[in-house]
Amino acid sequence: MTPGGAVSSWAALKLEGCSMISTIAPDQENAYPSLIAALCERDTYTRGHCDRVCVLALEMGHAVGLSASDLESLRIASQLHDVGKIGVRDDVLLKPGKLTPDEWELMKAHSTHGERIVKETFLSNAVEVASIVRHHHEAFDGSGYPDGLAGNEIPQSCRILSAVDSYDAMTTGRPYHNARSHREAMDILKNEVGTKFDPYIFSVFLNVIAVSSARTPEP
Ligand SMILES: [Fe+2]
Repeated sequence: MTPGGAVSSWAALKLEGCSMISTIAPDQENAYPSLIAALCERDTYTRGHCDRVCVLALEMGHAVGLSASDLESLRIASQLHDVGKIGVRDDVLLKPGKLTPDEWELMKAHSTHGERIVKETFLSNAVEVASIVRHHHEAFDGSGYPDGLAGNEIPQSCRILSAVDSYDAMTTGRPYHNARSHREAMDILKNEVGTKFDPYIFSVFLNVIAVSSARTPEP
């Protein structure tokens, strides 16, 4: 991979989607699609979700000026962020209703399951990607998980991933909620700025989502 490889492939990203981009050596690129395939076997929602999150995450990373190597780690982490759900029981992962407190604890463990799984890949940046996966549910005010990190203690890539993951999750129908419109999702997200989301990251997100190909179309 050239030092600017991730950035120079930016046009390809918009045209072809994250899963189609090849910015790194084949052995690196081949190190994780099987994990995505395995997760999709558990939860069919995941593939489209991860692709859209990847597009938005890279648009955000580009907008805040991440380095090429950080963009590459974010690109892979955005696709693998929920891979730890492989380790969550079906009756919890696929439950159509609200989770009980005990079930919620099992679901929350997907971030640390995912960290362990990514560390076992042959990715050259496995440590960096695993860290993003571990912390993708931290909250800006420290109320997130698994470590309760707050503010700038949370890696910037994780603050980006948190915002774009939440947007896409809300605008996509799931067994436990109907898909919200873009406007409804943005109203919910705005209410969580400063608590769940980094105000700076969210200000960038407002600009990015306004023109993103991954923005949910208005009905
Ligand atoms: Fe997650």
